[in-house]
Amino acid sequence: MRRKIVAGNWKMNGSLAENGALLKEVVAGSSGLSGVVCCSPYPYLFQLQRELQGTHVAWGAQNLSQFERGAYTGEVSAAMLVDFGCSYVIIGHSERRAIFGETSMTVAEKFKAAQDSGLIPILCLGETLAEREAGITEAVVGEQFDAVAGLAGIDAFEQAVIAYEPVWAIGTGRTATPQQAQDVHRHLRDRIALMSPDVAGKVPILYGGSVKPANAAELFAMPDIDGGLIGGASLVARDFCEICRAAA
Ligand code: PGA
Repeated sequence: MRRKIVAGNWKMNGSLAENGALLKEVVAGSSGLSGVVCCSPYPYLFQLQRELQGTHVAWGAQNLSQFERGAYTGEVSAAMLVDFGCSYVIIGHSERRAIFGETSMTVAEKFKAAQDSGLIPILCLGETLAEREAGITEAVVGEQFDAVAGLAGIDAFEQAVIAYEPVWAIGTGRTATPQQAQDVHRHLRDRIALMSPDVAGKVPILYGGSVKPANAAELFAMPDIDGGLIGGASLVARDFCEICRAAA
């Protein structure tokens, strides 16, 4: 059995006051579960460390620099995330690729920087609507995956998580059907199996894109879907906890 993970991606939301309430409710509402993760904006990582240390909930960031240290104004290094107790970091989210111009090569470098510091990368892959309609979904996610596997090596995925997030399903209320998601997850796992059957059997592949309490259970019931990366619904403690329970 692969471990199940449900990770909240808060994106650029929250405040000290809002987070304080949310974290308390998430800890209480998901007690007894494993694989629960919250990923906050950088400035609040100290708050997650303070509130979540010693609980069953892990935490992480949503990005990091591919560089180790030095003259990179505005950037945050892997070691800094480790300083604040992060276990995870989201890498290559489609918003970073589309809005901030991250290429597959940058994403691969960030993945490697994260792992070199002992963080578990949550590597996001996904196609746009135009790419899906053009029938090139597998080629797109394949290229995104191969760039990382090429730089970091396939064995790196022993200590990593993949999140398949179709861009057209993110924040749109339009979820991939369980079968659409399963098909891409299967394709990814088959692709990994060509390089390492062992890693393919172990690496958790999460689905992300408008996961809600109402659709989580049927998505997570698919054989190659190992949990979710949750945006909007991770800001509502009751919804997030219900989604976590659906994965258990
Ligand atoms: P969403 O976002 O759940 O709001 O669609 C998912 C994500 O972007 O990780």
